[in-house]
Parts: sequence; C-alpha cells; structure tokens
Amino acid sequence: MCSNVNLEIDRYNYKFSTTYGTYNNDKAINFNKLREDTGFITFDPGLKNTGITKSSISFIDGRKGILLYRGYPIEQVIDKCSFLETSYLILNGELPDSIDIDNFSKKIKKFNFLDEEILSISNKIPKECHPMGILSSLINLLTIFNIKNEDKYLYLLAKMPILASLAYRIKRNLTPPCTDQKSYYTSNLLKMLFSEKNREHKPNYIIIDALDKLLILHADHEQNCSTTTVRLLGSSHTNLYSSVSAGINALWGKRHGGANQEVIEMLENILKSGGNLKKWINKAKNKKDPFRLMGFGHRIYKNFDPRAQIAKKIAEDLIKKLNISDPILDLAKNLEKYALSDSYFKEKKLYPNIDFYSGIVYQAIGIPKNMFTVMFALGRLPGWMAHWKEIRNNNDPIGRPRQIYIGNKKRNIIKCG
Ligand code: ACO
Repeated sequence: MCSNVNLEIDRYNYKFSTTYGTYNNDKAINFNKLREDTGFITFDPGLKNTGITKSSISFIDGRKGILLYRGYPIEQVIDKCSFLETSYLILNGELPDSIDIDNFSKKIKKFNFLDEEILSISNKIPKECHPMGILSSLINLLTIFNIKNEDKYLYLLAKMPILASLAYRIKRNLTPPCTDQKSYYTSNLLKMLFSEKNREHKPNYIIIDALDKLLILHADHEQNCSTTTVRLLGSSHTNLYSSVSAGINALWGKRHGGANQEVIEMLENILKSGGNLKKWINKAKNKKDPFRLMGFGHRIYKNFDPRAQIAKKIAEDLIKKLNISDPILDLAKNLEKYALSDSYFKEKKLYPNIDFYSGIVYQAIGIPKNMFTVMFALGRLPGWMAHWKEIRNNNDPIGRPRQIYIGNKKRNIIKCG
C-alpha cells in the first residue's frame, strides 16, 4: 500500500495522498486539490477512472466476477433472501430478522393503493408513450402527493410496482391496477399486471420465484449510469422521487437497462433471418456498422458477469418447470458459445451481461418487451434509494465536474438576425 503518490509537472514535484477501500485493489489518488495545486484537471471521458464517492452498499470485482450486496455474495442472497429482505438489507445495511421484515412489509402495505389524483392525471397519458416514460413521469408526480415525506423509502417501494402496472395497463387500455393487501410484494405485482375485469390473476409460485430472483439480481450495482444520475440529483438536494425519476430515464438508454429489450429484439431478428450466427457476429465486429451484440460487454466486468450466469440458470429452470420450449433461449446459448470462442470477444473481454438472459425470463412470464426495462427499474429501486440516502447522510458535496472548453475564442456580435 502506498500512502503518497508523486506527480511531476514541468519539473515541479507534487505529492498526493491515496485512499484505499475494504479491498486493496480499490485504490485512488486524491486529486481533489489537483487543479488548485497544479492548474490541471483530470480528463476522463466516460468517468472510466474516476471515483466519485466512498460507498458501502455493493462491491464488484470485475476481474473475478464477484458481486457483494453489503458484503454478502449475490449467489447467497439469491439462494437465501426474498426481494423484500434484499431491499431491507440494501437500504439498512444489515439483514432483517423476522420481526424487522414483518414491520417492513406491513409499512409498505400501508401505502399499497393507487392515489386518485395520480389516476386522474394518468387518464391523459397517450397510450403510445413508452412505459419507461410513463413510469418516470408518474414517479416524479409523487413529489406532489407525499408532501410530508412520510416513510419516503417505503412509500416509494410501495408505489413503484403500482405505477409500473399502471403504465402497462395504460398501454393496453385496461382498467387501473387493483392492489392486493394480502399478497407478497412480487405476487401483488403480477396480480396488478395481469388481473382482468372480474378475473383475478393467480400467479404461479414458480413464476413469482423467478421474478423475485430477477428483481434481486438487479437490486444494486454500485456507480452505474442510472445510480450515478440519482446520486448527482441527491447531491444537489433534489427530493427522492424526482431523483429516482431521473434514474429511470438514465436506465432507459439502450447502452444501459434498455439493452434487455434490445437483446430479445436482436435474438428474434437473428432467428427470423435464418439464425446465421457468423453473419451477426461479423456485423458486431465491423467498426463501420453501428450494430453491437446487445447484452454483451460491461464497463466493469472483464470476466463473466455473475448476474448473467444466475439469470441464465433462472431462465433454464423456469422454461423446464413450465414445460415450455423456447427457441430464443436455445439461440441465446448458441450465440453466447459462438461469441465466447471468437478472438474479438476474447481479446476485448466481452462476456454476456445480465441483460442477455433476463428478457428470456420476462418473456416466459408473459411480460411484453417494452416492459422489460420497467422490471429492471423495479429491481434497481432499493439500490437507487440506498445511494440517495448515503449521499445525503455523508453530506457529499454537489456533483459538478469540469470540462476542457474547445469552442470559439471570445468574439463580438456585429449584427444578429
Ligand atoms: N458488441 C461489439 N463490440 C463491443 C460490444 C458489443 N456488445 N461492447 C463493447 N464492444 C467493443 C467496443 O466497440 C470497443 O471496441 P474498440 O476498443 O475496438 O473501440 C471495446 O469493445 C470496448 O467497448 P466500450 O464501448 O469502449 O466499453 P464501455 O465500457 O464504454 O461500454 C457497454 C460498455 C456500454 C456495456 C458496451 O459493452 C455495450 O454497448 N454493450 C452492448 C449494450 C449492453 O448490453 N448494455 C448493457 C450493459 S449492462 C447494464 O447496463 C445493465
């Protein structure tokens, strides 16, 4: 471990201290005084080498394919915890006992209803909107309705599945979702999505379990694009709901959470066009073609994404237990094998990420493609909230990066118009 780093600029020597995390391969040079001392800033497009905070929520070792939630390996969390228990862990830092989780669940149920005012506003939403746009707008509206910010984390945990179901139902011209006070969180979600007028949906426990596990897989992933968005808003002291609404919009992009919809569309296109894997792999490798193999590659994982391996197993188990066949799953497995044996993907360390298999599970459950990223948002909610809470508790400074200006030098307006 080195405690200081020397930097030589124009024959001057500057000393910077270092910061280490729980694991020593998490190490940083403290450059917060760099500009003040040297006149230089760091230039790091995409923030590939910039640590913006200290955090104790989740940990990733991208070279070893390790993901920990509050110190617990994702494989153990998936095996031993429900999504609500995982949410409690992520928000509070420790696993709940039976009394804790009972209270947590009861408090969430207290908010388990669709607000009349939201419903009347939602009647004006055109059904052509993408459900991610509908969800982020409705979440932003919550700012108006829970003015006292009573139990805001649990309030949002309760409202998110209701508003996600409302978004789904608006698109299908269905009546608003009916909440069920007796059901477990994920079962309530499935009922709100799929119940029809005079016919309550009774979700199969195999499906509840698969969806609950997928939500857990998405629950947190340290400083990704949407979480950083939520944190940035938190740093300016924007309220929780508007911060999460911004996170939903950041997640929507196809390089981030929107990839899960793109993966299934890509796999369907490959299947429809005859399943020629070589052609599609070559297309992904061609730098002149904007196409990328969706669901492949990750900023942090340069080895397997442990979530992708678990999602693959959930998909295989679900399809087996439901006794259905899915040519898309078979195609995905073949494509994975093909890509992983290709030198381009090997050299660039591109492996399947979570989005590669999650859509296959959603599809088997009956969730339409344009709702896939909404499901991701439901899973990521505890993580977003924990990061927002952490930044407020740490009282981190407002996030405000620098730039290198490359525009025009100062000039005068001679005439306008
Ligand atoms: N297909 C083909 N080539 C790829 C892919 C891909 N899926 N991903 C990366 N590459 C190539 C890039 O072209 C680049 O090549 P180069 O070095 O010759 O220029 C190299 O691999 C590195 O890629 P970058 O885009 O620089 O890596 P970055 O860390 O910035 O991006 C990202 C990561 C956005 C995930 C990228 O791999 C990608 O676009 N993947 C497809 C979309 C996707 O699956 N997104 C979901 C991510 S997981 C999540 O958000 C839940």
